[in-house]
Amino acid sequence: MSTKKNEIINKINQLTKQIIEHNENYHTYDNPKISDEEYDALYSELKKIENSYPELASLNSPTKRVGAKLLGGFKKVEHKFPMLSLSNASDQNEFKLFYERICKDLNKSKVSLSAEPKFDGLAISLTYRKGLFHSAVTRGDGVIGEDVSINVRTIKTLPLALNDPYSKLDVVLKAEIYMNISDFNMINSKLKKNNEKVFANPRNIAAGTIRQLDPKIASKRNLQIFIHGIIEINKKIGTDSHINDMQIIKKMGFNVCEHNKTVETFNDAIKYYEDMNNIRQNLPYEIDGIVFKIDSYTDRDKLGETSKAPRWSIAYKFRSIEAQTRLKTVSFQVGRTGTITPVAELEPVSIGGVTISRASLHNMDEIQKKDIRINDIVYVKRAGDVIPDIDRVNLEKRGKTKPIKMPSYCPACNSQLKKVSNQTFFKCENSRNCKPQIIQSIQHFASRKAMNISGLGEGIIELLIDNNLITNYSDLYYINFDRVKKLERMGELSSSNLQQSIDESRDTTLDRLIYALGINEVGYTTAKILSKHYTSIEELSKTKLESLETIKDIGPVVAKNIVDFFKDNESKEILKRILNSNVNIKNMNKAVSNKLDGLTFVITGSFENYSRKSLEEIILNNGGSVSSSISKKTSYLVLGIKPGSKYDKAKNLKVKIIDEKNFSKLL
Ligand code: IVH
Repeated sequence: MSTKKNEIINKINQLTKQIIEHNENYHTYDNPKISDEEYDALYSELKKIENSYPELASLNSPTKRVGAKLLGGFKKVEHKFPMLSLSNASDQNEFKLFYERICKDLNKSKVSLSAEPKFDGLAISLTYRKGLFHSAVTRGDGVIGEDVSINVRTIKTLPLALNDPYSKLDVVLKAEIYMNISDFNMINSKLKKNNEKVFANPRNIAAGTIRQLDPKIASKRNLQIFIHGIIEINKKIGTDSHINDMQIIKKMGFNVCEHNKTVETFNDAIKYYEDMNNIRQNLPYEIDGIVFKIDSYTDRDKLGETSKAPRWSIAYKFRSIEAQTRLKTVSFQVGRTGTITPVAELEPVSIGGVTISRASLHNMDEIQKKDIRINDIVYVKRAGDVIPDIDRVNLEKRGKTKPIKMPSYCPACNSQLKKVSNQTFFKCENSRNCKPQIIQSIQHFASRKAMNISGLGEGIIELLIDNNLITNYSDLYYINFDRVKKLERMGELSSSNLQQSIDESRDTTLDRLIYALGINEVGYTTAKILSKHYTSIEELSKTKLESLETIKDIGPVVAKNIVDFFKDNESKEILKRILNSNVNIKNMNKAVSNKLDGLTFVITGSFENYSRKSLEEIILNNGGSVSSSISKKTSYLVLGIKPGSKYDKAKNLKVKIIDEKNFSKLL
């Protein structure tokens, strides 16, 4: 090798090592040793060398955490060993039964256990080959998961290469991906500000982030990872103790929770559980119990596992956090589509550090079932979720109470409420003149997945309505901005930002517009399906019930809602105004070919190169249709790995069966 090449390799290695070390100081130990500018300088130096000598750059360089967007969905991967779940204990007695059973089965009076927090995240398996990060696969159904490597490699505390002396090792690990509460709160408050739907808990964001096709999103979300088990390791390196092995895992460069501990007796286990329950509110992440695992692998093997869970481990769940408070009164909220929801107004009470003063009562049936009345002392729970819930009434403390009654008239517009037949809720049907419904329908129209108009929060919408600048969402495209500028709370800048954002929204796609209209029960997914079957909004607006009902995934109720919407005179007028306002609606989902015209496909099993969703999309995009069940009319069954009963049915009905390769050939 030339000396020049050697020098470059040495420089790359040296910079890589430094950057990894500083990443660790910053992200793992929260203790940066150099300034951000110094770090950026190292990073750009490495990047520059890699750009000049791409053949010498390592795939696992710290500059390569964020890769390209994934097209066509995640690849399905079968786990070599099924990723099992855990048995649960919900009280001390159930945990005691577990402890007694393992003692009896091992013929011991006490068993050494590893005690660890049960992180409220999502499970993942991590594979390293020759010391380098190879792949990360979700648990999935335990047998088949999805390869989400592109997102997992963006996690800054995950080593892309193992430390010495493990730098040539093959290893497969079990881990939990989670998000710190502070990051969760930050993301939610941003979403709230932009009037977007917030996430219920950190787990949901973590899971949602890992399933994004664009790794840029994950790279910005500061996800965290703890290793909690080993699936495969070289016998010479692993020991017979899980806790010892976790120390080795730490030396390789992974994060292992510092609260993991061995407990030697039943009483120690209970003490650990109570201690952790007491400090859980001070932890930076959410945990919902303690996982106890037999520490010795030899003992684990003696007990084995059922098809669902190992016999050597149990998750002893925490009691959910609850508090008692008085229900002062009940208010009634009007939703976007007119549904009336009773909301409990509570005497403020602190639950797990958060002050709660309101909680949804969902509907009248729920109130009756739980026998909740005004002035009752109620138990409020915040089980994992941030959203509080009234669990039950403290009947011992019941004094003078008043029943909760659904009002006969809308609390906002005073029109008579109707009970939705066969349903448990009441509705205000005055949708075009009821202010909360108008505000929320405009908010929905402007939301990110719809027309994506930013700067249009509830307050601004109300301001525009109160100043007679708009009465419904179509008016957004006819706003007189000279008047907006002069409004007290607006000003020149926010007014011109809003104008620009509305202008930009004119360039849109058919699925967005369908969703934006706010047709009852037509969510984003349904809108997307509709956009694949109709070439324009005009065509959809003229469609008949019968033709809608033939579309897979469109049920009779949704079909009727769609037809009713477009039949309504006011809807017609609103749609006309939108279409006359210089909008440009592209249909991205329209078929790209008609090669599969007239063919009906049924899909079963999982595939190497496609996710099921992408397969469905390809069929629709090429003029075919997808059905969920086999019949004589089915043209092809596309057969994947581990097919279900559809395979047998297709054989019986002599339906043509093709595999992934032949499907590709069809196209
Ligand atoms: S060990 C055989 N340890 O809980 C399963 N799991 O309910 C071994 N979890 O899917 C799992 N914290 O995602 C283990 N300290 C911990 C854990 C943990 C959270 C999750 C894991 C698993 C789920 C089962």
